[in-house]
Amino acid sequence: MAESPLFPYLGFGLGLRQSHYAYVAEHQPDLDWFEIISENFMELESGHGAPVLRYLDTLREKYPIVLHGVSLSLGSSDPLDFVYLQRLKQLADRFDPPWISDHACWSSVDGIFLHDLLPLPYTQAVLKHLVERIERVQDFLGRRILIENVSSYMSYAHSEMSEWEFLSQVAQQADCGLLLDVNNVYVSAINHDFEPWDFISGLPARRIAQIHMAGHTDFKTWLVDSHDHAIVEPVWELYRKTIRHLGPISSMIERDENIPEFPVLFAEMALMRQIAREALDGTPVSSCAT
Ligand SMILES: [Fe+2]
Repeated sequence: MAESPLFPYLGFGLGLRQSHYAYVAEHQPDLDWFEIISENFMELESGHGAPVLRYLDTLREKYPIVLHGVSLSLGSSDPLDFVYLQRLKQLADRFDPPWISDHACWSSVDGIFLHDLLPLPYTQAVLKHLVERIERVQDFLGRRILIENVSSYMSYAHSEMSEWEFLSQVAQQADCGLLLDVNNVYVSAINHDFEPWDFISGLPARRIAQIHMAGHTDFKTWLVDSHDHAIVEPVWELYRKTIRHLGPISSMIERDENIPEFPVLFAEMALMRQIAREALDGTPVSSCAT
């Protein structure tokens, strides 16, 4: 398998969720890596959280663990939170993740945290702002990070470029990687009426280190990135086309609501692995194979 020139290739993984801790420890499933939500583990250094960290220590002996954040608020006009970053760095020192990721978004204003991943205006001024902040984060952490495209339900009349042009410029100017959420591309494409392949094919391939796959909720006139359903066929088709275009990219599935038993998610991960392998072989596949 080929590797990204910037990040290692990990294979196929899942987002680790609390309801699956016991199953994973007992069965040690045949997958390549896990992604954890950084904030869930950043304040557990002592007291009642210590057993959870020791659980991860043991898991880390068998699987690489990638850190995925949801609170960095990289695009905000608020100051960067260096207390948060110090905690993130401590977590990274403990688990030696192949990479750390967060989102190309804003989540706070005037110190008020909005608990959402909100889209940015795609302007030259915001581009410069985001690049400077990613550079400061990378300098502090001593490593490149990945930034992820968010799903969106609104856009700004004064945007000066497409989202994919914006992300491409950010990645190249900040010298960071990209986490491509294929479902987010699909959700935003439906909501904003653009062609999802224009988005994916417009990104710099060598910067893409990871893919997120997930399910969404279909409200008929718009989609919501809810992570509470199985992945739908049009998103599998986009994934298939993406892997054919990019080659092997570390891929995982996010599920945050309506979480099924672990074997159900594992089967979805196995399907993703099969689709990727057959896409690379060039053979036609059906995502109804399992
Ligand atoms: Fe995602």
